[in-house]
Amino acid sequence: MRLLFSLFLSLLLASRVSGGLLAVPALSVLPDCASTCLNSTDIISTCPDNNLICLCTSTSFQVALTGCVATACSIKESLTTKNATYAACGVTIRDEKKTYQNQVTPVLVLAGVFFIVRCLHRFVILRSSVVSDDYMLIATVVLALTTAFLNTYGVAANGLGQDVWTVPFDDLYRFGMYFYISAIFYYIDLGLGKITMLMFFLRIFPAVGVRKILIGTGVFCAGWTLLCAFLTVFQCTPVSYYWTSWDGEHEGTCLSGNAVAWANAAVNIALDLWMLGIPLAQLHGLQLHWKKKISVGIMFCVGTL
Ligand SMILES: *[C@@H]1O[C@H](CO)[C@@H](O)[C@H](O)[C@H]1NC(C)=O
Ligand SMILES: *[C@@H]1O[C@H](CO)[C@@H](O)[C@H](O)[C@H]1NC(C)=O
Repeated sequence: MRLLFSLFLSLLLASRVSGGLLAVPALSVLPDCASTCLNSTDIISTCPDNNLICLCTSTSFQVALTGCVATACSIKESLTTKNATYAACGVTIRDEKKTYQNQVTPVLVLAGVFFIVRCLHRFVILRSSVVSDDYMLIATVVLALTTAFLNTYGVAANGLGQDVWTVPFDDLYRFGMYFYISAIFYYIDLGLGKITMLMFFLRIFPAVGVRKILIGTGVFCAGWTLLCAFLTVFQCTPVSYYWTSWDGEHEGTCLSGNAVAWANAAVNIALDLWMLGIPLAQLHGLQLHWKKKISVGIMFCVGTL
């Protein structure tokens, strides 16, 4: 890798006409603010003759240039500068989009298979009629697929897994917008999934006490989901500031999205454990051999996961 890098730099240097650093093709697109930084002698003096290999490997040069660019350039200009200097130095462009897609696809396919098996079992083998938790399940699956679609063709297609300076500005805005929609859908889908599960429990556990707990949990879950979705939708004022704030050229304010995400994660984990506890507590009262109880318990654990 190192050898390849040096080789690339030598080629770049060989092809470079005399006339300073700014004559390097990849650096010709530098904004004025960055050219001024490069021209300033403080920065260049660390390397004799603006030697590109020296500049690309000199930490003090990088620090000096970064510091100068951070104060002299706008955010967009800084990104363009970073992209151009990294290209001039032959830094490998990273793109993990494929990794993301390769990881998500099998999970989606698996979930799809489980969904189809459940539908076949219920409607073809058992010939059951469609009940409320079936509708909820279908809504959950449709929303999950929509979110996955948005993540793949919106978020991932516009820069997920790439170095931010290699992504065109328009894509960065689109990335933020798709991420915003996807976050809202995600919160709603988590809630739908839990309510589906609660409706299923409501169908199989007839005892009055447990039904009250299930309905109470469902109401809490629905309220919490709506609150998280609402806070996410109106996280920024104006709403579009969510995906335009990065450029430093727009005015607006935002609540901390991370606070909503952490709170949501904590409550959801607690709800998962609580909802796992409900059916397991019911097992205690069932007239079953302990071996059967254990297998039913494992079934609920896997189901809740
Ligand atoms: C940088 O220096 C070169 C050569 O001295 C000059 O032609 C160019 O105009 C300078 N650029 C800026 C932005 O100062
Ligand atoms: C980054 O630099 C490369 C190589 O110079 C160029 O092809 C690409 O368009 C640049 N991308 C951005 C977003 O500036």
